Amino acid sequence: CCTHTLKGKNVIVTGGGTQEAIDPVRFIGNHSSGRMGFALAKAAVLAGANVTLVAGVSTLPTPLGVIRRIDVTSTYEMKNAVDQYYEDCDLVIKAAAVADYRVSHPAQNKIKKSEETLSLEMEKNPDILYGLGQRKTHQTLVGFAAETVNVLEYGMAKLKKKNLDLLVANDVSAEGAGFQSNTNIATLIFPDGSMEKLNKMEKYELAAIIIDRAAAILTQKNTS
Ligand code: PMT
Repeated sequence: CCTHTLKGKNVIVTGGGTQEAIDPVRFIGNHSSGRMGFALAKAAVLAGANVTLVAGVSTLPTPLGVIRRIDVTSTYEMKNAVDQYYEDCDLVIKAAAVADYRVSHPAQNKIKKSEETLSLEMEKNPDILYGLGQRKTHQTLVGFAAETVNVLEYGMAKLKKKNLDLLVANDVSAEGAGFQSNTNIATLIFPDGSMEKLNKMEKYELAAIIIDRAAAILTQKNTS
C-alpha cells in the first residue's frame, strides 16, 4: 500500500480515551482502547518518524521505537501535551476519543448516595484539533470522525471546520469498526472533496495506509 516516507519528521499521535472526573473515584469516559492510535504510532515509527505518543487512558504497551510517550487523563491534559510539541512538529494524527464536556465542579470527596436523582453540570471542553487547525503553519493535520449516522457528510464538515489535510471517517456503530475491535472500516476524506473508501481491515493495516497518505501530503507540501 505504502511508498512514502516520514524519515526525520516529527509526528504527534494521540490515542486512547480521555476521562473527566466526577469525584475522586468516578469519571465520565468512553470505550476507546487506544488500538487505533497505537497502531498509527507504530506505523509512523516504521515510516521513519520521530514519534511522540500522547496516550489517553489505555492499557496498551508503547510501540517499539516511539521516542516519547506522555500519558494523560483529561482533555485539558491532552491539550497541554499536544500544544507543547505542536510548533516543531510536521504531522499530527488525532485518533484519541476526546471528552467533549467535563464536570463543572468535580467533588473533592466521594459523593455519598442520598437523593433519588443526581444531576451533574457539565461544560464544554476545548476542541484540541480545532485549536491546532487555527494555528496551523507548516503542519499537516489528520483528524478522525467517530460517527454513527451521516458519516461522510459529518466527516467532511469536520475536515473543513478544523482545517485538516485528511480526515478518517469511521462508522463506530458498524460491526468490526470503531472502538475496541482489532479491525476498522474507514473512508479517507481529502480537502478537495475526493474520498478513498477502504474495506474492513486490521487497525495496523489501516494505520499504514493513513501514514502513507499523510506522508504523501507532506511530500507534496515540501515540493510545491
Ligand atoms: O481506541 P480504539 O478502541 O482503537 O478506537 C478507535 C476510535 C474509534 C476511538 C478512533 O478510530 C476514532 O474514531 N477516534 C476519534 C474519536 C473522536 O473523538 O471523534 P470525534 O468525531 O468526536 O472528534 C473528531 C476529531 O476531533 C478527532 O480527531 C478527535 O481526536 C478531535 N477532538 C474532538 C473533541 C475535542 N474536544 N478535541 C479534539 O481534538
